[in-house]
Amino acid sequence: MDVVDSRCCCLGLIAVALLALGRLAAGEALPLPKPLADVQHPADNPATPEKIALGKALFFDPRLSRTDKVSCASCHDPAKGFSNGERLATGVDGRQGTRSAPSLVNVGYYRSQFWDGRAGTLEEQALVPIQDAKEMDMRLDALVRKLNGIADYRQRFQAVFGGEATGPRIGQAIAAFERTIVSRETPFDRYLKGDKQALAPAAVRGLKLFYGQARCFVCHQGPNFTDDDFHNIGIFDEGKPDLGRRAVTGKAADQGKFKTPTLREIGRTAPYMHNGRFKTLTEVVGHYNFGGVTDAANDHRDEKLSVLYLNEDQVNDVVAFLTEGLTTPQRRP
Ligand code: HEC
Ligand code: HEC
Repeated sequence: MDVVDSRCCCLGLIAVALLALGRLAAGEALPLPKPLADVQHPADNPATPEKIALGKALFFDPRLSRTDKVSCASCHDPAKGFSNGERLATGVDGRQGTRSAPSLVNVGYYRSQFWDGRAGTLEEQALVPIQDAKEMDMRLDALVRKLNGIADYRQRFQAVFGGEATGPRIGQAIAAFERTIVSRETPFDRYLKGDKQALAPAAVRGLKLFYGQARCFVCHQGPNFTDDDFHNIGIFDEGKPDLGRRAVTGKAADQGKFKTPTLREIGRTAPYMHNGRFKTLTEVVGHYNFGGVTDAANDHRDEKLSVLYLNEDQVNDVVAFLTEGLTTPQRRP
């Protein structure tokens, strides 16, 4: 009896597993996201084309820094997915920060800003790098005076806000521009809408792994590939460990937690992670493949991570999904 029973049970399990695999193969069981909705501009900072254009001018203008040499775009370069290719950010006079410049792609969709989420809005965030001694090192009152002394800016602030430049208005204009940095027409989006030719076979296999065995979607979920939450994924900091979210909440359990970033345009924004630790996506997927263990001293690693048992081909497939699926091909000039 026992033997028959366990055999039945075994066959049952195999049948269930085959069914699940079949569904996976058909793409039905995958927790695929809905299309990404329009970005929301807040009611207290409605966007107009003139405000967005003013914000864009400010974003690219090095005169926002004390030395007239560093603009937002120095660290958030459109050609590099609004990141800058450096491991750690370098501001005025070559001063180096402790974190990597994140991509600003789809930044208007996040619930909080910065790797540790310490800023709530883009309006508030924009004024931080301007005044940060290691970034643009410009006093806000000095910047306001400087901009009001430039005829073109005086006229544009007047047209957009009906008055002179002020700190909050600088933040509002830049934020309105940042909300236009949107990625939602990737090959993956076209594939979701039914264009099965949009992804090559390796990227399709990678997609299935992303939403299956590799379990990436557990945190990189929904249409913007983020749960808007904070996790410690075992990224080792050389030197002094970065407290991450703990510095904001004061809770020991938040040690080393960082915001789950979007993965849209990820093929352009190397190096990766809050400290730019990984040069390539193959290294990133390798890190997850081993369950995210890099540092014995890191005892707050997220429970959602586990060894993935991906072979080399599967690692390459996940990378193909990230680079070909989630990154918009460059338009040829
Ligand atoms: C010297 C390099 C540098 C400059 C200049 C700079 N940033 Fe950043 N930016 C960074 C770094 C580094 C971070 C991450 C800091 C952190 O998380 O503590 C960041 C984070 C951000 C974020 C948060 C993104 C996210 O995913 O949470 C936004 C938005 C942003 N910057 C916009 C701007 C704007 C607007 C300007 C110009 C006013 C600017 N940055 C200038 C390096 C820079
Ligand atoms: C437990 C939640 C979680 C899971 C599961 C997870 N990630 Fe992440 N991911 C994060 C967090 C949090 C960060 C930022 C961590 C940091 O900088 O220290 C991140 C960062 C990344 C980055 C770097 C992004 C950037 O802009 O630098 C990539 C690429 C990435 N993840 C891909 C993946 C892939 C592929 C998988 C599946 C194999 C995966 N992630 C699984 C939470 C997760």
